[in-house]
Amino acid sequence: MKKFKILSVLIAVIALLSSCSLKERKSTESANYQVIPLPSEIVTSEGNPFVLSSSVKILFPEGNEKMHRNAEFLAEFLDISTGIKPDITSAAPEKNAIILGIGLQHSNKEAYEIVVDENSITITGASEAAVFYGIQTLRKSVSADAKRIVFQPVKIKDEPRFAYRGMMLDVARHFQSADFVKRYIDILALHNINRFHWHLTDDQGWRIEIKAYPKLTVIGSQREQTVVGRNTGEYDGKPHGGFYTQEEIKDIVKYAQDRYITVIPEIDLPGHMLAALAAYPELGCTGGPYEVAGSWGVFDDVLCPGKEETFTFLESVLSEVIELFPSEYIHIGGDECPKVRWEECSDCQARIKELKLKDKEGHKAEHYLQSYVTARIEKFLNNKGKSIIGWDEILEGELAPNATVMSWRGMEGGIQAAQMGHDVIMTPTAYCYFDYYQTQNTDEEPLAIGGYVPIEKVYSFEPAPEILTDKQKAHILGLQANLWTEYIETPDYVEYMVMPRIAALSEAQWVKPEKKNYEAFLTRLPGLLNLYGKLGYNYATHVFDVQAKMIPNFETNSLDVELSTIDNAPVYYTLDGTVPAVSSTKYDGKFSIRENTEIKAMAIREGGNTSKVLSEKINASKASYKPITLLTTPDPNYRYTGEGMLVDGLFGNSTNYKTGKWMGFKGENIVAIIDMLEPTEISTAQIRNCVVTGDWIFDASEIILESSDNNSVFTIVNSQKLLDANTTHWSDIAVHTLSFDPVTARYFRLTVKPTVMPAWHPGKGSKGYVFIDEISLN
Ligand code: ACM
Ligand code: ZN
Repeated sequence: MKKFKILSVLIAVIALLSSCSLKERKSTESANYQVIPLPSEIVTSEGNPFVLSSSVKILFPEGNEKMHRNAEFLAEFLDISTGIKPDITSAAPEKNAIILGIGLQHSNKEAYEIVVDENSITITGASEAAVFYGIQTLRKSVSADAKRIVFQPVKIKDEPRFAYRGMMLDVARHFQSADFVKRYIDILALHNINRFHWHLTDDQGWRIEIKAYPKLTVIGSQREQTVVGRNTGEYDGKPHGGFYTQEEIKDIVKYAQDRYITVIPEIDLPGHMLAALAAYPELGCTGGPYEVAGSWGVFDDVLCPGKEETFTFLESVLSEVIELFPSEYIHIGGDECPKVRWEECSDCQARIKELKLKDKEGHKAEHYLQSYVTARIEKFLNNKGKSIIGWDEILEGELAPNATVMSWRGMEGGIQAAQMGHDVIMTPTAYCYFDYYQTQNTDEEPLAIGGYVPIEKVYSFEPAPEILTDKQKAHILGLQANLWTEYIETPDYVEYMVMPRIAALSEAQWVKPEKKNYEAFLTRLPGLLNLYGKLGYNYATHVFDVQAKMIPNFETNSLDVELSTIDNAPVYYTLDGTVPAVSSTKYDGKFSIRENTEIKAMAIREGGNTSKVLSEKINASKASYKPITLLTTPDPNYRYTGEGMLVDGLFGNSTNYKTGKWMGFKGENIVAIIDMLEPTEISTAQIRNCVVTGDWIFDASEIILESSDNNSVFTIVNSQKLLDANTTHWSDIAVHTLSFDPVTARYFRLTVKPTVMPAWHPGKGSKGYVFIDEISLN
């Protein structure tokens, strides 16, 4: 009896002890060094961990103000995640301490190392900035709501791939408060971004106080109203305005500097200047009057380079700008400057004559006039110790001798500039425009400008293409993403468009190509998203939705469907168009489809937490999943997965031709041969064209269908000529069906001819792009 009692007490004690240690273990978390951006080298080792407790101190080198501030950042960051705010000192014993130091010998000034053992964590950098990145890595290693945190012994070595890691914010289209700009800078800092490109002036608002030209802000910072939607012609009737005083700008520049971010101001010239012209109409070719723009786009009224006052103006403005911004670079814009006013302006024409500018090498004299403006401004700024950055339009005509080119219309401008020995920052729309939609499911999104740049696309960006030699690649200083704000009014919306794509950007900027891996990135992303949540950021959650890969399989002649989620959450799907539920089929691996169906899939997580519904209609025809040979090369930007796209049964859902559903061809006859595998009877052929004439994408002009039994001799089955009688821009999905008496054949050849652009269109006389999503034979 006694023995039994002792035993039972012992069991109870053991149970109690083990439950304690279980609880203890539960509330203790181990730092996970798998952060974004991923460090170059992480080597963990066995041994006792470093325990973060309230008695831990942060040490910094005495007398180093920047390192003192770094120590304060670290204390604040740890406090946010763990509730422990270590004391800061420069005179404590080097035990139970996080020791910050500089003096790491490294060719890269932004390189740092972190060493963790039982007694201490040391972060040593090649500069104070480098230590700051080490601090960010350490703080991101800690989960967002950690209580008791331990750090396993580790040695981390890290350095960024690119020295220029940028992010832009347009505050001209929609003004953002100085406080929000600081919050934006915090977001950049969290992602090791070191350049904040601040787009301060545009047609819709001038946002920087210039003492010599006070009307720039009195008049130019205010617009009467803003167009509703995408230039609908309807206006909201609400004034919009705002600007930063020079004191506010100094404060923001200092705020960024403390976080090792250089602010690069952009004064966009000579185009995108309507706000300035509204304030000083004498600087335009016609003399005005002008209004601060309330709609979006490119405006013909630009600065008049024929008049000397224009240069007096620009030099005064830039003189004040360079006093405010210690940045080596001043961005002078240069994009989207129409030449129509210059062509008609006697001052501009006199200047062209005086400079003996001529049409040559495919550019007009007026392009060389813009080159003159850029070169003159460059000289002015070079003399003051500054360098210019310009958008890739500055390549048109003659590139200013020392200019750095920001390549946005694609990679081509950047490639050309690098080949000419100029420095380049890559920011092509297809990867780096965060004002573009991040999902194809745009119905559920706030209105955006269009386009499609999902996070995976951002991640995949390689800014130094193989076509460049190593020497030329060295001119690619780095990459940046841009947030234009025509449609992005509120801070919440800014954050939504930026996060988490900025996380993918930061890896493209920081991590060497051989270490980049999107799947691995996705495993590291939820930790960062938790931190976003903790910091109160409004991030987009598309990464938690179901992802679908739908690939035509030409062996089984069906569509292979693979569904996945970032966290392997259970996915349920239906094939009858109904919304999935836990009672629907649970996805357990790739499946195939051959018939017309509508797939709907949804992740259902713990507690019944549901993702958005993924929805995809399959429009199969007799041609679907049959071998197709494309005899025309698509535009490389719109080729995607190749010819299989044209027989995958998947239609483009809208005229957003960048979603990956539409294949694009640049002014060529599209010729495709479909092998039906056996003689097959058909009596209709259908193609769908996406038309956006504003983007030079036109309907087909002729469709010809031919048949063959041997894939060598073809006979015409049917054809259709199409006449586009529109005299203004239009945008739609044009569906064309050829109907004919039944024909039986094994091979069908389809030719789709482009349209010669009409006289009313800027591209008149040359052939338009043609975009098609599917060839259906039935
Ligand atoms: C630009 O997007 N206009 C540079
Ligand atoms: Zn002029």
